[in-house]
Amino acid sequence: MVNIENVRKDFPMLNKRRKRDGKPLIYLDNAATTFKPRQVIEAVLSYYEDFTANVHRGIYELSQEVTNLYEDSREKIAKFIGARKPSEIIFTKNSTEAFNIIAYGLDWKPGDEIVTTVMEHHSNIVPWQIIREKFGVKLKFIDLTDDGSHLNLDMLEELLTERTKLVTLTHVSNVLGTINPVRDVIRKAHEVGALTLIDAAQSVPHMPANVRELECDLLVFSSHKMLGPTGIGVLYMRSGVEEHIQPPFGGGEMIKTVTLEGCTWNDMPWRFEPGTPNAAGVIGLAAAVDYLSELGMDWVRKHEIKLTELAMKRLAEFDKVTVYGPKNTKERGGIISFNVEGVEGHDVALLLDEFENIAVRSGLHCAEPLHRKLGVQSSVRASFYLYNTEEEVNLFCGTLEKIVNSLF
Ligand SMILES: Cc1ncc(COP(=O)(O)O)c(C=O)c1O
Repeated sequence: MVNIENVRKDFPMLNKRRKRDGKPLIYLDNAATTFKPRQVIEAVLSYYEDFTANVHRGIYELSQEVTNLYEDSREKIAKFIGARKPSEIIFTKNSTEAFNIIAYGLDWKPGDEIVTTVMEHHSNIVPWQIIREKFGVKLKFIDLTDDGSHLNLDMLEELLTERTKLVTLTHVSNVLGTINPVRDVIRKAHEVGALTLIDAAQSVPHMPANVRELECDLLVFSSHKMLGPTGIGVLYMRSGVEEHIQPPFGGGEMIKTVTLEGCTWNDMPWRFEPGTPNAAGVIGLAAAVDYLSELGMDWVRKHEIKLTELAMKRLAEFDKVTVYGPKNTKERGGIISFNVEGVEGHDVALLLDEFENIAVRSGLHCAEPLHRKLGVQSSVRASFYLYNTEEEVNLFCGTLEKIVNSLF
């Protein structure tokens, strides 16, 4: 049995009180980034205090030690997402960089096609728009269902052709919370010979996610959204897929031999990791994976379902509040975006902050095309994580009720 109060003690940020009135911080912006437990902070510190040396570059003992730590971390992270081998894990700066590695690494020909969705974060739209301008590829979008809560997958058959080179979509929407049936999409994409890329930035941190079960070729996620340090992300590349992708960045470590005439690439995964890596970040991410594994991803998912169900039920009682995304909590992650009729999203967020020190995000959440599809200028987003409590959710809903009542 997980004791949430004990979990909360691991997170120094949860001790923060507002100077002005001593109110605790109610942090409901976990889709943007999460707090870090002491175990992760200590792991990062340990790199700087005990293991500072460059990885893969020294023959002396300390360099070997930190290289082992770095590569053991890769193995741990590979296991966490069900990869077949550690060499399928490439360390990047974040999800955004991982998308760009694929965008700049694939061998595009004019007329090639990319299928993505209108539900994507900008990081899974803009790189493809750049590629479209550069190479004359076609970019196609899966639209939403009429109620705006799911992808209209009936379109898929029509969008997929023998020219489809890549199908890329999010596992969980960072606005609607919708969990997409990515496995079905992946199977259909493979039928036309396309590569599949999954944005798992909002799924890997929150629910069991296994690349072998999903059968995807590529998958990305960010450490900072799953208790880990900032500045580190993961690109999962199924073994064999590297044959289709040229390393877009050159430098040290990603080569085997270099002459003035040319070079040969290093083995996987190092050929995609040029330059000195973020060893502290990788070690910190491994500590985050340890932390999540100890709690169990099933528990994390159940806990978030409980909080989401509570919030959805209460918000449904407010007739001035529109909640976006699926009604059924089983079809969504712990993300709830909403609007209060006639009130700017930023104003709602400011009032939540002002009244009870509640942190939510407002604006477009890096998903402007989705907001345009929904026909709204912006939205307010509350997103939960494993350290949030029912009391916090109740305080959030109660405060929102007060705000609505004071405005109408
Ligand atoms: C669904 C989704 N994809 C991609 C990203 C980009 O992540 P990062 O900024 O860490 O690269 C985010 C971040 O908000 C996200 O929510």
